[in-house]
Order: sequence, then structure tokens, then C-alpha cells
Amino acid sequence: MSDLTETSIAVVCFSNFRQQQAKAFCQLNKLPLLNKKDSQYPLQLLFHDDLIELFDSQLNTSISIDFLKGAMAHRQQFGGGRGQAIAKAIGLKSGITPTVLDTTAGLAGDAFVLATLGCPITLVERSPVLFCLLDNALERATLNAVFEPISQQGFRIISQDANDYINEQQSKQQPPPDVIYIDPMYPERKKSALVKKDMQILQRLHGHNDDAGSLLNNALLFAKKRVVVKRPAHAETLNEKKPNTCIKSKKTRYDIYTIEKML
Ligand SMILES: C[S@@+](CC[C@H](N)C(=O)[O-])C[C@H]1O[C@@H](n2cnc3c(N)ncnc32)[C@H](O)[C@@H]1O
Repeated sequence: MSDLTETSIAVVCFSNFRQQQAKAFCQLNKLPLLNKKDSQYPLQLLFHDDLIELFDSQLNTSISIDFLKGAMAHRQQFGGGRGQAIAKAIGLKSGITPTVLDTTAGLAGDAFVLATLGCPITLVERSPVLFCLLDNALERATLNAVFEPISQQGFRIISQDANDYINEQQSKQQPPPDVIYIDPMYPERKKSALVKKDMQILQRLHGHNDDAGSLLNNALLFAKKRVVVKRPAHAETLNEKKPNTCIKSKKTRYDIYTIEKML
């Protein structure tokens, strides 16, 4: 997403402390800076002293990211550990904890699960608005000692298009990650009630025009051991490319493209 103004986003800053940050963000992304909410903007990025959240004026709800509370913490405690489908798809086994490049960070739900299972992970997000939410979540989490082990093992968030990031890494001859993970926006559903509110907001922010096909091609040239693509259970494969194997859960399928055996 290069032109945020197309989706009518404004930034609303309620914080003196974040005034400079909000101003710089608006200048960089050519967005209006307000000091109170204005319903003419369907999406509003709200800067508070600590929290930054994305408010959807049509749904009258906000999304923000918290690595230490709510859904993320719950999944860390009760999510099923290395037995859950995503962990199997990435190739986690006893004694095997691969490094991961998550090319479609989004709200970092998947990345955080992998991080809590011990994977050093780099997240790449091309939307400046989502990157702002992610960066703020990381800023708040790093104030808490509980997050220390995850920081230590490696949890980096990059604001860039993942195709560009991969090309850059290759041209600098950087070591490849063991696994590259791709979770493109799902194809549009007719019944929007079926889509969770946070995903509805993401869809409003991005639409569905992901370039996931080129991401798969690039990832296959860079990953050391495998590329994993998350798809809806019955969706077609990316680029109509047959995976080596799949791991299925009720609504989701992980297509695994093997490059080298996970030892
Ligand atoms: C379905 S969401 C990912 C959700 C994420 N797995 C989670 O658990 O929250 C897809 C995200 O990928 C981002 N994205 C899509 N293509 C990208 C690309 N080429 N480079 C970086 N980010 C990309 C979109 O901006 C969007 O935030």
C-alpha cells in the first residue's frame, strides 16, 4: 500500500509526548494530523501517551497490538505449543527451532506464536499504519521483563515491502532464514460477519490486492529449508503451484514447499 490517502486515513494525536512522532508520520505518509476524532475519516490512527490504536469509525471499534495481554497472551498459555498446526508446518520439533522470516506481519499473531515457541523471527510489514501499531506494541512490550527472552532470541520488525527486503538481503549476501512464512490477505468473503472485526479493518486498509504470487517466487529463491503459505482450507494454491505437503486445521491449510530437509 503506497498511498494511504486513498483510503481516507487521518492521524489524531491526543498526546504532547507523541506530537513530534505523529507529525513526522503524517509528513512521511502525507496524512492529515488532527487533535480530535473526525468521522469523515473511515480510519483514524489514534496516538495516546502510551498506546497507538487504529479506530474504524464505521465499525466503531479499534485495533491495537499487545504482546503481553489479551488474545496473544492467551494463545501463548493455552495455544497447544509445538503440537499446533502452524508449529508443525514451520517444522518445529524437539531439538529443532528454525529461524523464520514472516513476510506478511499484519497484527503479528502468527509471528508471536512462533516467537513464544522459541523461533528467532524477523517480521516484515509494508503498511506504514500497521508497522506503526507493531512498533508501538514492541515499544510497550520491551518495557516489561517478561518480554526479555523473546527480545534476546530475536524479534525484529521491518517496515518494508517483503519482496524488496528479500532482494536486498540476497544482494547483500545475508544468510537466509530457515523458513519463510507467507500469510496473504484471504480472498473476499460474501458474508462479512464471517470475518473477524480486526480482519475487516485490515481488509479496509489494504483491499485484497496482495502480490502473494511474486512473494512465493522470491521466497523460494531465498529460504534455506522451506516456504510455508497459509491459505483458507479450500482455497486454491498460490500460483497454482503444488506444495510438497500440507498441514490442515479446521479452517486453515498450510502449504509447505520444501527446499531442504529440516534436520
Ligand atoms: C492476512 S495479514 C497477515 C496476518 C498475520 N499473519 C497475523 O497473524 O496477524 C497480511 C499482511 O501482510 C501484509 N503484506 C502483504 N503483502 C506484503 C508484502 N509484499 N510485504 C510486506 N507486507 C505485506 C499486509 O499489509 C497485511 O498486513
